[in-house]
Amino acid sequence: MPKLNENYLNLKESYLFSEIANRVNKYKKENPDKNVISLGIGDVTLPLGSEVIDALHEGVNDLSKAETFMGYGPEHGYMFLREAIVDYYKRNGVDITAEEVFISDGAKSDTGNITDMFGPGNVILIPDPTYPVYVDSNMMNGREITYMDASEKNDFLAMPDKNVHADIIYICSPNNPTGAVYNHAQLKEWVDYALENDAIILFDSAYEAFISDPDLPRSIFAIEGAKKCAIEFCSLSKTAGFTGARCGYTIVPEDLKFTSSTGKEMSLNAMWNRRQSTKFNGASYIVQKGAAKAFTKEGMAQCQENIAYYKENARLIAECLKEKNIRFYGGINSPYIWFECPNNMESWDFFDYLLNNAQIVGTPGAGFGKNGTHYFRLTSFGNRENTIEAIERLNKLL
Ligand code: MLT
Repeated sequence: MPKLNENYLNLKESYLFSEIANRVNKYKKENPDKNVISLGIGDVTLPLGSEVIDALHEGVNDLSKAETFMGYGPEHGYMFLREAIVDYYKRNGVDITAEEVFISDGAKSDTGNITDMFGPGNVILIPDPTYPVYVDSNMMNGREITYMDASEKNDFLAMPDKNVHADIIYICSPNNPTGAVYNHAQLKEWVDYALENDAIILFDSAYEAFISDPDLPRSIFAIEGAKKCAIEFCSLSKTAGFTGARCGYTIVPEDLKFTSSTGKEMSLNAMWNRRQSTKFNGASYIVQKGAAKAFTKEGMAQCQENIAYYKENARLIAECLKEKNIRFYGGINSPYIWFECPNNMESWDFFDYLLNNAQIVGTPGAGFGKNGTHYFRLTSFGNRENTIEAIERLNKLL
C-alpha cells in the first residue's frame, strides 16, 4: 500500500472557491428559474484588449509556418516577455533584470510551488485573513503556520512584531481579500524586519495594476533592501484579464542568497531555475506573445481601461454599502470590497442568506481565516449590468 501524504487529512474537504462553486451549482439545480449573479471569485468578465488579441493571433500564425514554428520554449520564459516585464517595471520606477523574471501560468501556481524551496522547521508567518493558497500549500507539506492578525484594529495591515521571529513571511498588497494596501513606510518596516531576522518575504502583487494612488508602492522592489529578502509574484489574470488565458511571473532577485546548514551559499534564483526547469515546461508560446503585448504602453493603456471599468463597479458597490451604513474596506486601489456582515451574521450564514434571498454570490470572509468570520467579500469584476442589478437587489434586501 502506498504511504500517502496524510497532511491532506488536515485540509478542509475542498478549496474555498470549489466549495462555493459546489454550493452555487446545487442552488442553481434546485432553482433553475433564478438568475444568479456572481460577485464571488475574482474572475474577470471583459474581453482581452485588441493589442493582446492581435499578438495572440500572431502567435497562432507563427505556429502555422515551418520558418516561425516554436517547440519547447525556455522554462524561464521567452526573453521577449521577460524584457517587456523589465520595461514595465522600469516605467513604474523599479529596476529588475530579465534574469530575475520567471514566466509561469499564473501566480496561484507559483505561490503554491514556491514551498518546494524551503526545508522543514521554518516559522511561517501568514496574515489572517489571507488568500487560502498560502495556507493550504504549506499545510500540504505538513508545515506549521503562525498567524498574524489583520483586523479593523490595524486597518487589515498586519505589521511586524519585533518579539516574534519569522523565517518566511507572506504579504499580499493590494490585499486579497481585504483590499488594504501597504504604504512605503509600512513595507520598509517589513523589509527591515526580514533583513534583521534573515527571513524571506513572499510578496504577492497580483493586484498592483489596481493601484491608482501614485504614492503607494506597486512592487516590494520599490523598497530599499528588498532584493536581499524578497520574492515577488504577479499575474496577468487581474492586470490584463488572463484568468482564462493563464500567464504570470515571479521575480527572484539575483542578490537573494542564504547560507545552508553546511555553510554553502544558496541562490534562490538558481534554485527556482532548477525547480522550474525540472518540473515545468514553460507557459505556451502563444500566451506569452499576447502577454508581452499587455506590457507595452499601448497594451497597458487598454488593460487600464478595463481596470477603470471594474473600479467604477467597485465605486457603485461601495456607494450602496455607504448608504446602508455598512462598514467596508478596499474598493479603491483594489477590485475587492470587504465589509462587515449585517447584524453580526457569520459569513457562511450571510452567504446563504444572500444566495437564497437575492441570488447574489459573494465570498464568505471565514474562507480566508478566522478574522473573516463576520466579513464578506464582493468583487468588482462583474459586468456593469449584473453589478447594477446586484446592487438593486442588495438595496432591497439590506
Ligand atoms: C479570488 O477570487 O480570490 C481569486 O480569483 C483567486 C485567484 O486569483 O486564484
